[in-house]
Amino acid sequence: MTDRYIDTYKKSISDPASFWGEHAQDCHWYKKWEKVLDDSKKPFCRWFSGGQVNTCYNALDFHVENGIGNQLAMIYDSPVTDSIKKFTYRQLRDEVAKFAGVLASRGVQKGDRVIIYMPMIPEAAIAMLACARLGAVHSVVFGGFAANELATRINDATPKVIVSASCGIEVKRIIKYKPLLDRAIEMAESKPECCIILQRPIETASMIDGRDIDWNEAMSEAKPHDCVPVESTDPLYILYTSGTTGEPKGVVRDNGGHMVALKWSMKAIYDMDKGDVFWSASDVGWVVGHSYIVYGPLLKGCTTVIYEGKPVGTPDAGAFWRVISEHKVKALFTAPTAFRAIKREDPDAELMKKYDLSNFKTLFLAGERLDPDTLHWAENHLGIPVIDHWWQTETGWSIAANCMGIHHFPVKPGSPTKAVPGWDVRVVDPDNNPVKAGEIGALVVRLPLPPGTLLTLWNNDKRYVSAYLEEFPGYYKTADAGFIDEDGYIYVMTRTDDIINVAGHRLSTGAIEEVLADHPEVAECAVLGVDDQLKGQVPIGFLVLNAGVTRDHDEIIKEVIQMVRDRIGPVTSFKTATVVKRLPKTRSGKILRGTIRSIADNREYKMPATIDDPATLNEIEDALNYVGYGKARK
Ligand code: COA
Ligand code: AMP
Repeated sequence: MTDRYIDTYKKSISDPASFWGEHAQDCHWYKKWEKVLDDSKKPFCRWFSGGQVNTCYNALDFHVENGIGNQLAMIYDSPVTDSIKKFTYRQLRDEVAKFAGVLASRGVQKGDRVIIYMPMIPEAAIAMLACARLGAVHSVVFGGFAANELATRINDATPKVIVSASCGIEVKRIIKYKPLLDRAIEMAESKPECCIILQRPIETASMIDGRDIDWNEAMSEAKPHDCVPVESTDPLYILYTSGTTGEPKGVVRDNGGHMVALKWSMKAIYDMDKGDVFWSASDVGWVVGHSYIVYGPLLKGCTTVIYEGKPVGTPDAGAFWRVISEHKVKALFTAPTAFRAIKREDPDAELMKKYDLSNFKTLFLAGERLDPDTLHWAENHLGIPVIDHWWQTETGWSIAANCMGIHHFPVKPGSPTKAVPGWDVRVVDPDNNPVKAGEIGALVVRLPLPPGTLLTLWNNDKRYVSAYLEEFPGYYKTADAGFIDEDGYIYVMTRTDDIINVAGHRLSTGAIEEVLADHPEVAECAVLGVDDQLKGQVPIGFLVLNAGVTRDHDEIIKEVIQMVRDRIGPVTSFKTATVVKRLPKTRSGKILRGTIRSIADNREYKMPATIDDPATLNEIEDALNYVGYGKARK
């Protein structure tokens, strides 16, 4: 069986065109491609150029026309509204066709952008698929982002239409989306022609005459719209993710390559077949939601679950087991933080015993490093394989995994196992030379990247090249550091940039610093990700105030925390900041971030030889102890 992995892997790397060309035959094409792998415009690379497809057709109509129209396509399970709603493939196809009709009636055509700012409700997926049906490019913005972040994305994507809802529900709290949307549109230079708003029963948003349209009213008058063939290389979506500045990167995904890679991955990585129930407990605002709540499972003909709830608190730490048992989920995909939350509330997994989990075959975790404690807890209590896998918004699907549909390798804690077929992963030193097995270096992927990965950054080919392709010529820079052991197991240790992972959410500390620096009394600041038992990492801020500031420090701290919440969003979990006289720096003026982090995490550290003034470290230690970090950590 190991041979199966080796053969598949070798073929995918030595002859990617024939490997992916073969798997592309599992999909429907209006016109067959001329070239599987088109690298005539290096370093840009395109998949299945000359081919014409429609992703929505492949995700819905194809299944209806091939006999599974009455099978469930989507189950919406919402403990926060106490409701469950099910859609067969035929029903979902009809809803999507109708909403495509609504969009078309507002002038949305192939290539137009549509922003979707919605909670975890079926309408979010319906809107995404309706865009795909028309060849329009969707850009979903996560609901936990503030108006300012939404405005940045509106300016970059310049959408013709924005689709939103009156509110989201965070456990018991109603988050009014509409005022956030209105504020974002006010702030943005680019204005949409209209907004389509779903009024949820729990909250009615006030509408702006002449601009806002009621989802339900529009649907009641809509004529279904058919699928529009698009070029395989045309963009399907833009998904913004944190970069190293406040300016997010708009990752662009194509239609053809994305469809082929995701459909293949459903069996190869997740061992899912048509009719199986797949649940990705994430959010449609993140890449996991795009790939494995919406597109992957539907392309494969599985049943996908849209869950509007949390692992704990809706109503308790048994919520995941209830959903798995009630809907006969075969595989669950979530972030380790969700399991840490469950484990914290129900350490002996008592609530698990209440449910029949006999259909549950595999747990997949990703989005952050899987700590051995969480891995073992899940393995011991569930008694099924727990699979760590490594991927990024940019890659769209996993770079490294234990491919359950090819060969199940023994798990090594701390490793997401081996490179997935299609991914030629290497570890290099700063001069782009390979390092020995077991040595840490930059994790890079030899070009060309497989299909389904990022084509470029929206409106910014230059940034795409400089961010990903320039530092290690011939390779894609993952910005993760790690190593590969003698058996080919990959270990992902840390980011090499300022990105941190908070509860599986990707954030830029640089972007938080930009907000803090805007406070009139802050002279200098630094934000670092420190270890957190539940969320993996959380950001903490260090503020150096202007000379002569006499105001109460706690007040200033409260203000900066509120600023981050208002400008980036609650999802940053930025709750701790402290005022210091000076930041520890090297003699050349670089902030000693690694050392500060070690102090915060209460780890041993060496006094850096290049430090400008060792006394600054004592000051940082005191400040950290005061806010419950460093030696004061519990
Ligand atoms: N809309 C509005 N606000 C949102 C939001 C959304 N869609 N999602 C999160 N928030 C808010 C939360 O309410 C919270 O606000 P608060 O500071 O006022 O309490 C804040 O953003 C931080 O959210 P989160 O980090 O998710 O923390 P939490 O305490 O609400 O929940 C977990 C902690 C572990 C239960 C939660 O993070 C979780 O379920 N994680 C699962 C992993 C996951 O989905 N990862 C995504 C990638 S796979
Ligand atoms: P995102 O773009 O939000 O998916 O975040 C991608 C980043 O999350 C990666 O670059 C890694 O730093 C981290 N990450 C994702 N999956 C894993 C994993 N399985 N193990 C370790 N880190 C991971």
